[in-house]
Amino acid sequence: MTTKTDVLIIGAGAAGLMCAATAGYRGKSVTVVDMGKKPGRKILISGGGRCNFTNENASPENYLCQNPHFVKSCLSRYSAQDFIELVDRHGLEYHHKTLGQLFCNDSAQDIVDILMTECDWAGVNIALRSEVLSIEKNTDGYLVKTSGDSYQCASLVVASGGLTMPKLGATPIGYKIAEQFGLNIFPTTAALVPFTLHDHDKQRFDGLSGISVDCLVSSESGVIFRENILFTHRGLSGPAILQISSFWQAGQSITINLLPDSPIAELVSEWRQNSPQKSLKNLLATVLPKRLVESMVNHKEITDKAVNQLSNDEVTYLGQYLHQWQIKPNGTEGYRTAEVTLGGVDTDELSSKTFEAKKAAGLYFIGEVTDVTGWLGGYNFQYAWSCGVACGQAV
Ligand code: FDA
Repeated sequence: MTTKTDVLIIGAGAAGLMCAATAGYRGKSVTVVDMGKKPGRKILISGGGRCNFTNENASPENYLCQNPHFVKSCLSRYSAQDFIELVDRHGLEYHHKTLGQLFCNDSAQDIVDILMTECDWAGVNIALRSEVLSIEKNTDGYLVKTSGDSYQCASLVVASGGLTMPKLGATPIGYKIAEQFGLNIFPTTAALVPFTLHDHDKQRFDGLSGISVDCLVSSESGVIFRENILFTHRGLSGPAILQISSFWQAGQSITINLLPDSPIAELVSEWRQNSPQKSLKNLLATVLPKRLVESMVNHKEITDKAVNQLSNDEVTYLGQYLHQWQIKPNGTEGYRTAEVTLGGVDTDELSSKTFEAKKAAGLYFIGEVTDVTGWLGGYNFQYAWSCGVACGQAV
């Protein structure tokens, strides 16, 4: 059976649902197809189940894209404040965490419920368990065959997401459609993802799992984030590591300042005055996790002696070591645990106002499938809302 609809949207995720409601309110007949059993599956697991649904400070600087200007238009037309007004209208209870991040008080399900209510009010039809199998362009627009029905639409919106979390239904369909219509695609890679370590570092960090430290972490390209790092039994994670992973390339090192607020030279001089006989190990354990300090001493990376016996060279070395701790990751955990996919459909192929492909009238790409990747902290959902609205106003 072939169903006619003005707009067909592939993907009932953040971008697809937002686009659907916006187009539906404009009087368009809209159908969203998704291969999953439920809509918004990534929203449900996001933010540890509480969905970091936006960031109050979201601006173009928080996004990686080959064309840094691309997101300006949609972010200014539908900002974090606009999404906050939407959730306020629905009575969502939420809280501010650090760095402008907003989270649901109760559950990420509340965000999915808001989007589904909006879609319902806008008269959107949602067809779940419908995997897209093929697309054909014809004189009336696009014919889309799914594992359920077939659809004939004037406007086809690809909101099928990236490659992260294949067990939640990530497929390369969006890139395949872009390829089918001759659009350029930038190579994709996992981002906002934990690092794995080489064997020698795994041995060094054995026993540190669970330790979290507030650090400054920098990439070889000079990008710096101040947040926590977390030692895990697989490698390194935590917000600062996830952030820097988006700027890391295989073979590169990252540099970690373990004491961003306390220059070691000042600390040592204070310790030399106040507790000259105390061991460096015990004093460092007052400013860093004890297990981490013990591990550094046990692996002979730092010396342990009374602070008044440290030579100036030893203090200089200690400063270099703790303020510029270098680690060369072995790799990342990949798409299995990554939050987002870096790369994707080249935004130069799309209108930044409507998200329509310049080479294929009536075909649109929004959300993670495009070459736009936000930092950690609610930026990725904000992009999904902003581009969803921009596209929904145009289809
Ligand atoms: P999304 O992936 O949400 O939706 C795509 C949809 O397309 C899916 O429902 C999929 O089933 C469907 N689909 C794919 N192929 C198909 C096919 N062949 N046929 C039919 N349907 C198909 N961001 C943020 O801002 N704050 C946060 O707290 C988090 N937290 C977070 C945690 C974890 C664990 C992950 C993995 C990710 C996050 N993110 C996040 C990132 C955020 O989830 C992501 O940026 C958005 O979900 C992207 O929205 P999209 O709508 O583009 O794709």
